[in-house]
Amino acid sequence: MNQMDIVNLLIPHDRKMPAKMEGHGYAPSNIALAKYWGKRNKTLNLPITDSLSISLFDKGTSTSIEASPYTHDMVILNDREIDSDTLFAQRISHLLNLFRPDPSFYFKITTINNIPSAAGLASSASGFAALILALNDFFQWELDDKSLSILARLGSGSASRSLWHGFVEWHAGVSEDGMDSYAEKLPYQWPSLRLGILIISNREKNITSREGMNRSQQTSPFYSAWPTQVAQTMEKLHTAIKTKDIELLGSAAEQNALAMHATMLTSSPAFCYWQTETLSQIQKIWQIRNEGVPLYFTEDAGPNLKLLFTDEISDIVRSEFRDVEIIAPFHLS
Ligand code: PMV
Repeated sequence: MNQMDIVNLLIPHDRKMPAKMEGHGYAPSNIALAKYWGKRNKTLNLPITDSLSISLFDKGTSTSIEASPYTHDMVILNDREIDSDTLFAQRISHLLNLFRPDPSFYFKITTINNIPSAAGLASSASGFAALILALNDFFQWELDDKSLSILARLGSGSASRSLWHGFVEWHAGVSEDGMDSYAEKLPYQWPSLRLGILIISNREKNITSREGMNRSQQTSPFYSAWPTQVAQTMEKLHTAIKTKDIELLGSAAEQNALAMHATMLTSSPAFCYWQTETLSQIQKIWQIRNEGVPLYFTEDAGPNLKLLFTDEISDIVRSEFRDVEIIAPFHLS
């Protein structure tokens, strides 16, 4: 099975021509509380484990799509045209290859991203999810959520979780074609939950998450413990979300993130997304917690931290971390 086979399975044969002049989509970024780290199939981005995320509500990507006036795809990110040689533009064109009505058809993609790109803030997740939603609108596929999630996964694994607000679970699935590997919104609200974005650096990372997870999976002696770790995290998260238990949610998410970073440190060659400042902020969080304040963090494939807490301690968080951006994921949903 390759990506084209999956597209042929999902998209109706009579929906291969654009049905409108322009298509649009918005997708929120998402932060995994139980991480996706390792694949059972690299072509289809099929994960080894389930994962669970919280979406960042109004932090995300808006994308418009139309026919390109040129004989190449155009990608405009935050008002700047991206050079077609960059990895970013190539990944988009690679996904678009699956949907061209004919080989001489090129797309113009205009995308606005209000989160820092490639700094571990999951911009590829919202980026590919918004692109699939814009394509769904452009071609009027009228696909269901499950199919959209599967298509978004072909662009980037974590994009399968970026189609909804709130808590989202991605089922790893077992089938070879990945038709059972898709994400779903969980039916729980937690209005007082807060995420704090602590930007340590906006610089592009040297190792993509794609490369990093492959290296961990292939070379870390700790990787064999990872699937059990995630299964335990998933169980704790389900209980925490149902009972609105921030201590359980925070400690489970924090331990899961640290276990993922442990697989990186023990890879060969070893790699590390942390910067000095990342560690000093982690120690500060631990110190605040030792004083009885329920503050936790998670960290993806980048140096930035995402604080996890509830609104009762928002004032403490604001005074301790002056540059923190606080997000209320259940603001309007
Ligand atoms: O979807 P990718 O290939 O960008 O990988 C995402 C990996 C993490 O952000 C570290 C974890 C996750 O589940 O989002």
